Amino acid sequence: MLSRAHPSFWSLTAALPLIFSLLTCTCSAKFREDRVHGNMPRMPDIPVVSLGARASAPVMASDGTELPDYNTVYYFDQLIDHYRPSLGTFKQRYWYTWEYYQPGGPIVLSTPGEVNAGFYSTYLTNMTIMGMIAQETKGATVVLEHRFYGESNPYPDLSVESLRVHTIQQAIDDLAYFAENVVLPMPGGDKVPPYKAPWIYAGGSYAGALASWTMVSKPNLFFAAYSSSGVVQAKVDFWEYFEPIRENMPKNCSSDIQAALTRLDAIFTSGNATAIADIKKTFGLSELTNSIDFLGALRNNLWDWQQLQPNTGSQSIFYRFCDQIQVKAGVPAPPGGWGAAYAITAWGKFWRREYYPYLCGIDDPETCLGTANPSAEYWTATATNNRARSWFWTVCNELGYLQNAAPEGKPSLVSRLIQPSYDLRQCQLMFPQAFSKTPTPRAELINLLYKGWNVKLDRIIFVNGARDPWIDATMSARSHQPRTSSLQQVHLTQGFHCSDLTADNALDPTIADVHRKTLQTMKTWLKAYRPSPRPPRPYTPPRPPASHKAPPSTPPRKTKKTNAWMRGGQ
Ligand SMILES: *[C@@H]1O[C@H](CO)[C@@H](O)[C@H](O)[C@H]1NC(C)=O
Ligand SMILES: *[C@@H]1O[C@H](CO)[C@@H](O)[C@H](O)[C@H]1NC(C)=O
Ligand SMILES: *[C@@H]1O[C@H](CO)[C@@H](O)[C@H](O)[C@H]1NC(C)=O
Repeated sequence: MLSRAHPSFWSLTAALPLIFSLLTCTCSAKFREDRVHGNMPRMPDIPVVSLGARASAPVMASDGTELPDYNTVYYFDQLIDHYRPSLGTFKQRYWYTWEYYQPGGPIVLSTPGEVNAGFYSTYLTNMTIMGMIAQETKGATVVLEHRFYGESNPYPDLSVESLRVHTIQQAIDDLAYFAENVVLPMPGGDKVPPYKAPWIYAGGSYAGALASWTMVSKPNLFFAAYSSSGVVQAKVDFWEYFEPIRENMPKNCSSDIQAALTRLDAIFTSGNATAIADIKKTFGLSELTNSIDFLGALRNNLWDWQQLQPNTGSQSIFYRFCDQIQVKAGVPAPPGGWGAAYAITAWGKFWRREYYPYLCGIDDPETCLGTANPSAEYWTATATNNRARSWFWTVCNELGYLQNAAPEGKPSLVSRLIQPSYDLRQCQLMFPQAFSKTPTPRAELINLLYKGWNVKLDRIIFVNGARDPWIDATMSARSHQPRTSSLQQVHLTQGFHCSDLTADNALDPTIADVHRKTLQTMKTWLKAYRPSPRPPRPYTPPRPPASHKAPPSTPPRKTKKTNAWMRGGQ
């Protein structure tokens, strides 16, 4: 493609992403979708599915009733704090359809997790595994927005004081309180709590881990569950994130990145200011104040792997990157690559010409990639609907999952200078009121509470992808042998992160196979469901892990108690 014979084509191709990003993006840099700046760890998220041509077709129930559009928003009065119900409730958004439902069928609940759920109403439909399960078993589907994301906020801001009730346990309690109290918007929608109808939970990534964690925490809530790329095992130094990338990317590209980083680390630890300045200039990043931010920012080219799916073409930004450092004057590199010197020059040129505008838009390097200025707006802004901030709270407190250098002696695609302390310092910058020193996320406690990958559950299907960077935090981690049985299934596809959530990825036969098995298994399991004559005992949640901070004396907002809560003990 990049032939020497057509220099004008070459430069046009190189300029296209820039033109494209200027046309489509008025404000903002690429990373704004998921991070407040381009040097934060990636969050594990799930694919967006577009309704496409189906957007114009009416939604019909099996009895011929025309139903509301998929994107109709409903509100549930959710408890602000499950440990202090007297604080009242907030409006939690959800989406719902009973398109496939027939009385006696299951309620298939999902949450897209750490994101504004407004983009995920297609997860009601059979374009996703949730809807496929519902269609096969004559169930209804619910998409519930996770607390502190989108417009489902217990308090009107994301200040440290408000985030006190942003814990994994509160999110699990939300699922339980919702299932036990919601009146679903359909005939008979008040008669389907989990003791009268089977509830199935399905989710991917963090929300996939919630499948397992919730079953551990609330054994009688969900009759069955589906966990796609569920990151069940918390880990602070999650250097393994880059291993599936290293193993599956073109060999010459990974060799050259390793060689380049060894050279860069030698330069950046040498203290030779001239040499360091030369390197930053090669990448067009002279304005970055802290040198370590430069090395941290280079992770972006690897993080791009996470966007790959079985149907992604070779034009994806990840492969463009490898092509730029591997194809020299039209000739691809041998398996060992071209070596450090050429790789650094080509990598730098790629950043200057194409990658910086793609990633950072019109932002200056310090705003896009720097962590030097503690009063930068992205640290201090506490407005809601800021998933990066909400997610980072969970990262800093409970999960970690920091994507850093491999341990000494193992090949690394990341500078050895990028250690957990580098990312954790950002916790202090974002939440100075919470962390007077670099925090240590409570990952060990989370694994103890929710059993991590040591779970033994009934009626759960775990599905993971062999090329998913998150695989080593899932039940298919290479360092761990999970318990499996017909009631706790673990499947491995050739997919990437959460590939099996969407119907279109069934173009990969290993994913199609898992879809088939899942539908069959769910149907079989549902035959064993029996309603109970009465609701479970009034719900008394366990004590949550100690919060780092005392509860605020006056909550910022308090809404009325709801019918839902009063019905709680009916
Ligand atoms: C979704 O449902 C439609 C209508 O019943 C059907 O034509 C289509 O094949 C289904 N898609 C999947 C992936 O099951
Ligand atoms: C070398 O890199 C090029 C460009 O990324 C790729 O197309 C090719 O498959 C790679 N070859 C090997 C042996 O890894
Ligand atoms: C510092 O780096 C520059 C540029 O690479 C080089 O010319 C110079 O010799 C180095 N200085 C020392 C003391 O190594």
